[in-house]
Amino acid sequence: MSDTRALLTALREGEAVAPEAFKGFASGLADSSVSDAQAGAFAMVALLKGLTREQRVALTLAMRDSGDVLNWQLDRPVLDKHSTGGIGDCVSLLLAPALAACGAAVPMVSGRGLGHTGGTLDKLEAIPGFKTGLDEAEFKRIVTKGHLAIVSASANIAPADKRLYAIRDVTATVESLDLITASILSKKLAAGLGGLVLDVKTGSGAFMKTRKDARDLAQSLVNTANAAGCRTSALVTDMSQPLVPSLGNALEVAEVMRMLKDPKDSPLLSISAALGGVVLSDSGLSDTPQTGAEAIINAVQSGQAAEAFGRMVHAQGGPVRFVENWQRLLPEANNIRELRAPEAGYISAYAGEALGLAVVHLGGGRSVETDKVDPAVGLTELLPLGTYVNKGDPIARIHASRADQTKQAEAAVLHSITIGERPEIPTLIYERVS
Ligand code: URA
Repeated sequence: MSDTRALLTALREGEAVAPEAFKGFASGLADSSVSDAQAGAFAMVALLKGLTREQRVALTLAMRDSGDVLNWQLDRPVLDKHSTGGIGDCVSLLLAPALAACGAAVPMVSGRGLGHTGGTLDKLEAIPGFKTGLDEAEFKRIVTKGHLAIVSASANIAPADKRLYAIRDVTATVESLDLITASILSKKLAAGLGGLVLDVKTGSGAFMKTRKDARDLAQSLVNTANAAGCRTSALVTDMSQPLVPSLGNALEVAEVMRMLKDPKDSPLLSISAALGGVVLSDSGLSDTPQTGAEAIINAVQSGQAAEAFGRMVHAQGGPVRFVENWQRLLPEANNIRELRAPEAGYISAYAGEALGLAVVHLGGGRSVETDKVDPAVGLTELLPLGTYVNKGDPIARIHASRADQTKQAEAAVLHSITIGERPEIPTLIYERVS
């Protein structure tokens, strides 16, 4: 109690704080000897006064060490990728198996949908039987044997973050750059990574709406992860339109399966190759980011990434031959309705957050934590920015479980698509931060 009070006083007054003070605070969060009031005060002082670079690293390491930290004894680099979240962002499902096919081990601890964005775990759980809640022994066994698993954080991965995140949520302190950094990295570093690449998204479908905010977050994550001993780079990438033409859990898995079985040039493949190239070259598995990107594309085109995906699905409880039979195994919605352009013009803007929320309201995401996600619902055949449409042309298909939901979704989707002037087409990858 008195240690936490001393920590809060020092942060309030801008005085020096020893790393041990953050260790005590994080273990107090995990064992509940730090109270909710103290945790809320900590979050607010961090938001209002900010942490120094050293304090941010000390907090991240302390939160990482508040639970188990995995230790891999493998003959290959242990790598991962993390995205700050977007719409139609199914990169992890393509990149993780491609990295495994390129010689990495990928123990990916992933998240669920948050706000308007989808989550990798919810997408994978659209596959019948797929289990994301593995215990640590099973997780280690699958990664050691097959070099790839995608799981939820077990109760003992960074428990300090679980507690602090819930308190930030109700104390208007989620936005703190320092706390976002420590939250994301404490979980990733607890997975025992040797290298990490971050996809920091910006635009209407991202949390960071401006390039500057995205760059600041990327820099904070990269500096902190490297100071904590994990070789990390970031790309700042565009999220002003969906990354693939579909939004929704099973519908995005279907996009990835099409890419794995019949690869085509697309934003999904380009971003996956760029991110994969960076982390392969940072880890020494390729000479340069360019040759690394080529290796990722080759892993997809040769079918090796599809094989790695299939092995992971089976190891985590899904069907044996999912990659061959995905079309009949993924759930489908009962009501599919075409949405038509109300006027002629170019697809000139997406209100990404509103589009993502339209899928949440169809049941594809959660409004409250206890909501059950409907894997089948969502949108398909969304058009890229800059496409010209005539009045009455199809601009999307709505997949709903009940007919009455399609009407509501129709209005929400139409509201989030602007048809008008020819837009400037945004660059897919803005910059690398290392
Ligand atoms: N994701 C996290 O895990 N934590 C944050 O604070 C924000 C996004």
